[in-house]
Amino acid sequence: MKAAPTLAGRLGTAIAWMLACAVVFIATASAGLDKLIELEIKSRQSPRLLHAIEVLDKNQVPSNADMLLLIQTMAVEQPRAMILSYAGVALLSLAVIAVYVWIARRIANRFAAPVLAVAEGAKKIGAGDFSHRIAPPPRLTRELQGLVDGFNAQAEALEGSERRMRFQTAAVAHELRTPLTVLNGYIQGALDGVFPRDDAHMRILLTQVSDLSRIIDDLRTVSLASTGALGLEVADCDLAEETRSVLHALAPQFAAAEMTVETALPSALVRADPARIRQMLRAVLENARRYAADGGCLSVSTFVHDAECVLRIDDRGPGFPADHRAFEGFWRADLSRTRATGGSGLGLSVVKALADAHGGEVTITNRRNGGARVELRFLAREEAVRLALPRLATV
Ligand SMILES: Nc1ncnc2c1ncn2[C@@H]1O[C@H](COP(=O)(O)OP(=O)(O)OP(=O)(O)O)[C@@H](O)[C@H]1O
Ligand SMILES: [Mg+2]
Repeated sequence: MKAAPTLAGRLGTAIAWMLACAVVFIATASAGLDKLIELEIKSRQSPRLLHAIEVLDKNQVPSNADMLLLIQTMAVEQPRAMILSYAGVALLSLAVIAVYVWIARRIANRFAAPVLAVAEGAKKIGAGDFSHRIAPPPRLTRELQGLVDGFNAQAEALEGSERRMRFQTAAVAHELRTPLTVLNGYIQGALDGVFPRDDAHMRILLTQVSDLSRIIDDLRTVSLASTGALGLEVADCDLAEETRSVLHALAPQFAAAEMTVETALPSALVRADPARIRQMLRAVLENARRYAADGGCLSVSTFVHDAECVLRIDDRGPGFPADHRAFEGFWRADLSRTRATGGSGLGLSVVKALADAHGGEVTITNRRNGGARVELRFLAREEAVRLALPRLATV
């Protein structure tokens, strides 16, 4: 497709055309005007004088008497003809200026229309109408097209984040309400003497309180990381060693889920907060145990690739849906899942927030033979030291 012209290009062309047209028009019109004045003067002269002019035009000399008459007539007619010619050119110029003011206004309006539409749109967005978009007029210059496209992209992004914020606020309320309702029911029941106040019931209450604390901690982590305010205790850290320690701690849960874990864990040194690395790993491994237990086998490996250390977790479960939004808080593939079979949908958004805070990356793909692959990537230690990453303050 042909690229749209620039504003400077289009304005330059318009001005050049207007100037050229003005010069040609005024030159032609003033020549025509002079001719008309000449004809009008001749129409008033005697045949003798016209004959003298004809003789002169043929480069011959008229008689002395005719010459004298010619000089006398010229002395009268020439100043009048000059005044008429100047007045005519001035009037023509005024007419050209009037037409050009009209054309310039139209051109300026054409260029100003998208700018005004953007200003108007910004007011609407400011008033909370995030669905407002600008329909770009045809044949916009490159800059104005960029302005309109930029505005529409911003409006789109704002609408998306507002939609996400609404969803997340509703989700937070819902997730917090569930344990609170259970707590309320048990405490009320205990006060009414319906439930005994024994250890078993206290443990149920404690589970609900831990659920609440976890949700609040996760939300805090995501929120701090998104504002760059998450404190990290950065140190030299071996991904392989941290993985071994988390796998060791989770071994009973994997055994209970009848899952076997294959490992290939050569050393992979990074600069990171080891506690946060373990937190990420726990979230991903806990997901594998929860959602991919049917696959039976899990493989966890570390390797170094292109100055990056990669921690890869492959499971043999159902994998992620193609349109998943697993890094968005509260997204779950199966919304109907109950608390007993699933979590609140915050785990992977916390993993992403922590990976971002480390200057790293987390990716989710589905494996060709079935199952999900989650990869955590961090700059290898030497590279991180060279670039002085992560730059976040340590606490
Ligand atoms: N290994 C996996 N295989 C298939 N689906 C997965 C896997 N891991 C996560 N998911 C899907 O992604 C969703 C989001 O996972 P995430 O860890 O963010 O939240 P959660 O496990 O539902 O809750 P939380 O981790 O907060 O307790 C899960 O609900 C699940 O539907
Ligand atoms: Mg999870």
